[in-house]
Amino acid sequence: MKIVAIVGSIREDSYNKKLASFMKEHFKNRVEIAILPIEEIPMYNQDNELMPPDIVKDIKSKIAASDGMLIVTPEYNHSIPGVLKNAIDWFSRVDKVMHNKPVMIVGGSGGALGTVRAQMQLRQILNAPGVSALTLPGNEVFIGSVHEKIDESGDLIHEPTIEFLDTVMEKFMDWIQNNNK
Ligand SMILES: Cc1cc2nc3c(=O)[nH]c(=O)nc-3n(C[C@H](O)[C@H](O)[C@H](O)COP(=O)(O)O)c2cc1C
Repeated sequence: MKIVAIVGSIREDSYNKKLASFMKEHFKNRVEIAILPIEEIPMYNQDNELMPPDIVKDIKSKIAASDGMLIVTPEYNHSIPGVLKNAIDWFSRVDKVMHNKPVMIVGGSGGALGTVRAQMQLRQILNAPGVSALTLPGNEVFIGSVHEKIDESGDLIHEPTIEFLDTVMEKFMDWIQNNNK
């Protein structure tokens, strides 16, 4: 099974980047996770959507070829970061590569709520007609105080969170397989 991951933070030491890298390594015997470089995507411009930059074409083709998508994101000002919205806006147009794509959402933030508000908005966005992604029902992964759960080498070290991620990833993979039946 091939999953593509996008991360809503582009800063060097991002905890959400570290979470995505941890998941890629931690689940490598169960699923192949490729992290896509959405930080290289320019600002969406409808004038260019029929002839998009190569990076957009490349990322879209990888999404289209994947079995599912993982979105790992912080919350910015009670919403999703602009870099993530920008990428989804590109993906929502022309060939609409997220259509019916199974999506699992994971969010890490410094606060106690662990991206609750951002994820509620993200689910709304993923339900827009141009996107029409399928979000894993009944499972939400909110990682609050994320800075206390990742060590200096970037590994997630908080056992309850690791166990919860194991459970939700297992459900995500089962759900993808059942959807494709
Ligand atoms: C512009 C900005 C807005 C933020 N807004 C929120 C917020 O609304 N809720 C929250 O829990 N944390 C907020 N934070 C704190 C982030 O949770 C924290 O910086 C987190 O580490 C960002 O994720 P990253 O480490 O993956 O870059 C904000 C941070 C920034 C830079």
